[in-house]
Order: sequence, then structure tokens, then C-alpha cells
Amino acid sequence: AIASVKGRRVWDSRGHPTVEVDVVLENGVLGRAIAPAGASRGTREAIDLRDGGKLLQGKNVAKALASVNGPIAKALKGRDVNDQGAADAAILALDASPFKEMLGGNATVATSLAILHAAAADARKPLWRHVADQYGTTPSLPLPEIQIFGGGAHAGRRVDIQDFMIMVPGARDFDEVMEITNEVYFAAGDIMAQKGKLAGVADEGGWWPMFDSNEEALETLVAAIEKAGEVPGERVVISLDIAASEFRKDGAYNLALEDRKMDSAGLIDLLGGWLDAYPIASIEDPVGEDDRAGMIEFTRRFGDKVQIIGDDYLVTNAQLVHEAAAQGACNAVLIKVNQAGTVSESIETFHAAIAQGWGAIVSARSGETEDSSISHLSTGLGGGQLKVGSFTRSERMVKWNECLRIQDTLGRDAFVKGASLARTWWG
Ligand code: PGA
Ligand code: ZN
Repeated sequence: AIASVKGRRVWDSRGHPTVEVDVVLENGVLGRAIAPAGASRGTREAIDLRDGGKLLQGKNVAKALASVNGPIAKALKGRDVNDQGAADAAILALDASPFKEMLGGNATVATSLAILHAAAADARKPLWRHVADQYGTTPSLPLPEIQIFGGGAHAGRRVDIQDFMIMVPGARDFDEVMEITNEVYFAAGDIMAQKGKLAGVADEGGWWPMFDSNEEALETLVAAIEKAGEVPGERVVISLDIAASEFRKDGAYNLALEDRKMDSAGLIDLLGGWLDAYPIASIEDPVGEDDRAGMIEFTRRFGDKVQIIGDDYLVTNAQLVHEAAAQGACNAVLIKVNQAGTVSESIETFHAAIAQGWGAIVSARSGETEDSSISHLSTGLGGGQLKVGSFTRSERMVKWNECLRIQDTLGRDAFVKGASLARTWWG
């Protein structure tokens, strides 16, 4: 049973404070997890509780820590660590607000994940195996989405699009994904350097997008895939996170690099043109989180040829997944544990996606830490895909490296090849 729950302030990859939680069992076993933090957040996701005021740019987490060390610790003491559902329900019962703003989603997510870790440690199992055993899933190593250029809110809006990523569905195993990604990442850096456009990296470690148009970024990505010795669209495909809510204002889309303000139809046509011109297999938040008609239209036109992921649009909410599926909007969901606020709600959303025949992509946030829980969640659930950011910086690499360690136990053949995903958008 749970003996104590203790929160402490630690610091994330952007240098901002965040919440770490230790759950200690009566036999001394420890479970520990850290809350990540987004920058381009959906309006309906669990609220990251920050103190406000002048200290630490208003981002201090004393209030969230008070939630952990006060009401949450009290509600969890003596509880069975193996009953994740009941422990999460006990946390939720303390906060009647719609978006967990009383306790703070940062307080609830770190606690919920720490409980999961404690239960796994108590059972002397790696976290991924504990997840599979608890939720009756078949573990497999995920297919990564890896950022080559950052953009949008993660790069001072230097380009409109937030993530220019690759996926390697044609790789033989997880190890080969890493190898090919390394080649593409550094080929992209070489091309940038040759053009005199190498200017450091964005928030998640992808190259800074020193481009004059969104298309220039896409052209450069295609050139980098070729320079790495690959045929674009064969083993390696492109994945984009448009994060369109970030440039939507008063119902219009204001793309700084396109010469016009556009309506939903204009944006859908623009993106449709890119789908024709480039080997894009996956696209996230192609329209804004409040543009339901746009998402339905985009899915109607392109849902058969590309994975359409709802991130801000679905905020890891099972009910929103079922509603969107009924409306014909999206065909995949991003699973961010801190958007939901607890492990149980995230896994409920995962199951909703699987029930709808959708893709499910477990994802990090732009503000991350050394916590690698999501590598285990993704593997344990056998969900198929993992999005973590780029191929540099340790808060990203810790997630990829953890998958390599898991590969040593689970075996290379446990890699989800693109062709074996629930739905596929590549040959
Ligand atoms: P965020 O963005 O973590 O900054 O919210 C990540 C994403 O949009 O996928
Ligand atoms: Zn996103």
C-alpha cells in the first residue's frame, strides 16, 4: 500500500520549474515521475497550475506542490498501488473543476505516473511490462515521429508550421529508425549550412527553421532524405504538425509566410497541395481546435491517404475521440498524459482510439525532462507510434534510448513496422 506521496520542484528542458512526485510504498519501494509542459496547448486540456506573479516569470509551481503534499497525499495514503483506476479516481474526486485547475494537471499527472512506476517496481517488472499486464495489451516497440525542423510556437514563429518530422515505416527495427534518422538529421544540417542558413536549434532540438516559405522547409526536408541515401516516400516519409490553432484568429488563418489570410477552405486547399507534392503520410491539427467543419472536410477529402491526428483538437479525451469519429473528423489521436491529467484517462483515450480503428500516438511535450515514462507507455500499450521531438538534446534522446534498452528485452522483432499498424497510409 502507499505509505507517502511527496512532491518536489525540479526544472524542465526550457529551464522552467516543474513538479516531480515520489510515491513510496510501505515496503520502501519508490515510484517517481515528472510533469512535462506544453507551449502550444489546447484550450480544453488539463491546466498546468502555475503561481503567477513575478517570481520565475510567474511559472513557479508552489501551488501545484501544495496540492500534491496536501490533499493528494492524504487521499492516497494507505491505498492499493496496484489499483491505478481507484487511485486516479481518488485524485479526481478532489477536483470538481472541468480542467483540473484546482489541483493542477501538473500535480495530478506526476502523481498518477509515479503510482504506475511504484506498482511496476513493486512487481519487479519494467514499466512497459507492467502496463501491458495491467491493461491486457501486447507490447511492441513504437514507430517514432522525429522532428528535423522545429517551427511555430517552438521557434518564435519563424515559420508557420510547428513540426517538420520524418517517420521510417520501412525500417527493419527500432535501431534502424535511429540510424536513418541520424543520417537525415545531419544531412538537413549540412544543407542548411551550405545555404548559410544554419542558426542553431528550436525548442525541441530540431534545426532552427531559417526559411522564407513553408514550402522551402518541405523542399529542404525532401532534399535531406535524398542526401541521406533514401528515396522520399519509400522507407522514409514526412509527418507534419500544423498546430493550426496557433495561427487561427477570429475564424481566419493568418499564415505569416503565405501572402494571405485564409479561411478554412483556403488552408485545406493549401495543405492538400502539399499532400500532392510531398511524401506526407501523417498530418496533425491541420485546422484549428474549434474548426469542426474544417476537420470534417479535411478528413473527408484526405482521410484515405494520410493519417490525420487530433492533438489540440482532441486533447487526449476519450469522449472527444468518440464524438469526432462519429462526425468523421480525424483518424488518429495524440496521447499526451498531461493533457488528460491522469494515466487512467489517457489509457481510456487510447482504448477509444483502438475501438474506432484509429491510430494512437503517445507524445511528449515541448517542455520535457529526463522522465522516460512515455517510452514505456507507448511500448506497453503496443500503440504503434511515439512522438518525442527531435534527434538531439537529452530530454528527447532519453526517450529514444529507453526504447533501445527495452528492445534488448523485447527483441528486435517486436518493432511495429509501418505495415502492421492498425491503419496504414504508406505502401
Ligand atoms: P506543445 O506542442 O508540447 O508545445 O504543446 C507539442 C505538439 O503540439 O504536439
Ligand atoms: Zn501538436
